[in-house]
Amino acid sequence: MKILVTGGTGFIGSHTVVELQNRGYQVVIVDNLSNSDAKIVDSIEKITGTRPTLEVFDLVDREKTADFFKRHNDLKGIIHFAAFKAVGESVQFPLKYYRNNLDSLVNILEAMKENNIPNFVFSSSCTVYGQPEELPVSEKAPIQKAESPYGNTKQISEEIITDTVKVTDIHAIALRYFNPIGAHESALIGELPIGVPNNLVPFITQTAIGLRQQLSVFGEDYHTHDGTAVRDYIHVVDLAKAHVVAIDRMVNHKMKKPLEIFNLGTGIGYSVLDVINAFEKVSGLKLNYKIVARREGDIEKVWANPDFSNRELGWKADRNLEEMVDSAWKWEQAFRGKTIKPE
Ligand code: UFG
Repeated sequence: MKILVTGGTGFIGSHTVVELQNRGYQVVIVDNLSNSDAKIVDSIEKITGTRPTLEVFDLVDREKTADFFKRHNDLKGIIHFAAFKAVGESVQFPLKYYRNNLDSLVNILEAMKENNIPNFVFSSSCTVYGQPEELPVSEKAPIQKAESPYGNTKQISEEIITDTVKVTDIHAIALRYFNPIGAHESALIGELPIGVPNNLVPFITQTAIGLRQQLSVFGEDYHTHDGTAVRDYIHVVDLAKAHVVAIDRMVNHKMKKPLEIFNLGTGIGYSVLDVINAFEKVSGLKLNYKIVARREGDIEKVWANPDFSNRELGWKADRNLEEMVDSAWKWEQAFRGKTIKPE
């Protein structure tokens, strides 16, 4: 069965391609390589023994998208990762984000309808919940006004999908990710932000390897156990496996309604200092960090109630925080060709 993975050379996309191929699916990747490298396909081939097909073009281009779908009208499903995801950049360049993240979605859904392709998995985010009133947060929690244009594209995308499944034969699963971190155990694929990382774990590993001077910890006056902000970090391999389960569910006609929404998290909240401590433990290094002011737009604390996805999908994130940071650290060292010895 052939599955399209858009953004399949990116962080979560590449790990998902590996898991899909391990499960026997045939994968075609579409990626414009705006934040990734075509060489990832070599690494995927090394891990799985199978080379996925890669087509390089921009899904914002309606004609190219329509042409691609005509040539691949035997697709059984689509997992749509391709999107811009930098929160801060989206505040500065909102139109870039709306154009990229929304036009591509509309083009794909149109082409699916045109070619009778039934199954769509969408990369959504816990950002749709904002700062929830109740924790852990379940799928029933109200959507709150987005803090950034990036977050807004995820909300609008969910609305576009909701409206579309009502009047077409398209079935969709929206997966709301909490904070994906870590890397594949082979250390052949991982997270590779272009430029200065925005996210915590790549900033930690780049500091430890010597690429960055110091990590800034944003805020220590939150109402949490140690004053730093709390998130639900989830291993990217666990997250990737959930996508395969979602595709299996769709192709085996196990969905209970045309649009299903699932939280993908562990159910455990860790603070920024917890993550740093876990990193120091697995690496044997002291991380150079300092506490600075809060980062604008950050929420205080969020973690998932994963009960519904655990029950309905028969899936559970089972890799712990130490495994997450250890794999991210191994990947950083392998990628840079450097080994940093414990102190
Ligand atoms: N943090 C630091 N220092 C850093 C980077 C982050 O202290 O240098 C803190 C943040 O303040 C936050 C925590 O680490 O408390 C996690 O921050 P991330 O930037 O790693 O992730 P966010 O929780 O901010 O998640 C956001 C959006 C998601 C989006 C994700 C990836 O909410 O929707 O970024 O871009 F998917």
